[in-house]
Amino acid sequence: MEYRKFSGLDRRVSVLGLGTWAFGNDFWWGKQSDEVSLDVLEKAVENGINLIDTAPIYGRGHSEEVVGRFLKKRGQRDKLVIATKLGLDWTSGKLFNLKRAAMLREIEASRRRLGVEVIDIYQIHWPDPETSIKESAKVMREFYEQGLIKAVGVSNYSVDQMKEFMNYCPLHSLQPPYNMFRREIEEKILPFCVENNISVLSYSPLHGGVLTGKFFFDNVAVPRDMVRKNLDDLKEPKFSVNKKILLELKKIADSYGKSLAEFVLNWTIHAKGITTVLVGARNKKQIQQNFGCLGWGIKEEDIKKIEAILDKRKKLLNL
Ligand SMILES: NC(=O)c1ccc[n+]([C@@H]2O[C@H](COP(=O)([O-])OP(=O)(O)OC[C@H]3O[C@@H](n4cnc5c(N)ncnc54)[C@H](OP(=O)(O)O)[C@@H]3O)[C@@H](O)[C@H]2O)c1
Repeated sequence: MEYRKFSGLDRRVSVLGLGTWAFGNDFWWGKQSDEVSLDVLEKAVENGINLIDTAPIYGRGHSEEVVGRFLKKRGQRDKLVIATKLGLDWTSGKLFNLKRAAMLREIEASRRRLGVEVIDIYQIHWPDPETSIKESAKVMREFYEQGLIKAVGVSNYSVDQMKEFMNYCPLHSLQPPYNMFRREIEEKILPFCVENNISVLSYSPLHGGVLTGKFFFDNVAVPRDMVRKNLDDLKEPKFSVNKKILLELKKIADSYGKSLAEFVLNWTIHAKGITTVLVGARNKKQIQQNFGCLGWGIKEEDIKKIEAILDKRKKLLNL
């Protein structure tokens, strides 16, 4: 495992982090047994992952509770970096809530569910259109100054939103989507983060499993969960184009003796500006396979071929 410096933390973080959205066991990702989730956490940490990302909205507190159970069982709290979030509310009928009172309630609930005194990376999950960035940034600053959190993060923020936030509070990290099919952050967001020493935890590196190729080549049916049934990339006309593109990428992956998942994750952890890649895994087998992305590199000439293949996809899909 490789470890990288993370802004605001005195501990380095593993280049592969474990995302625990699916551990929520709800309509987003469908059924997930807690025992299996605990096995995945154990396997991940055994193999050197020290960063675990969760959020209250993942199963309405359930994912945080599972991570809390794991921390209690495992001990060695100080060896792990726990990232969670706030700002998505399932109780009021309004999804976004970054009002001060809600933020104060949320941090207490997360600390209780996780069983921790201090949250290592605390992230605003999405901007709240009804609360100014100034108001929520000032509350994050209070948490930081009170020592309740070690690093201040935001997720799904634009450059302008980060700039506004930084007027009122130190900003250590950003959590944006990033994978071979979703590269919007390369243009402005990643350069801004590099320039401003903002660590980046990128999410959905396998595009919800699309980039493993399994829905295209292995006869795996697209699950009817909320995440996958709504993905355009798994529906025509994109499906056929993606299949063609993934086949070309798979040929390069094959030349390294790697699966598409290992190949795609390797590309992602080496992308400029990325600190750590949050990958989801539903069982021990998947997390074990994903470790195959570590300890090797893609040759420069193949990086160029990947660029050309991904450019071709954009043209075919008019993106
Ligand atoms: N901040 C945000 O707004 C936000 C948004 C999304 C995600 N995240 C974070 O990022 C984490 C990861 O993103 P993600 O869960 O969306 O997606 P991801 O890592 O792109 O995909 C994970 C899914 O792909 C499948 N998979 C993983 N490894 C596999 C393998 N080796 N072979 C075959 N299938 C495999 C599994 O689902 P199946 O087995 O069911 O196919 C798994 O749940 C989340 O858990 C969460 O912590 C944050």
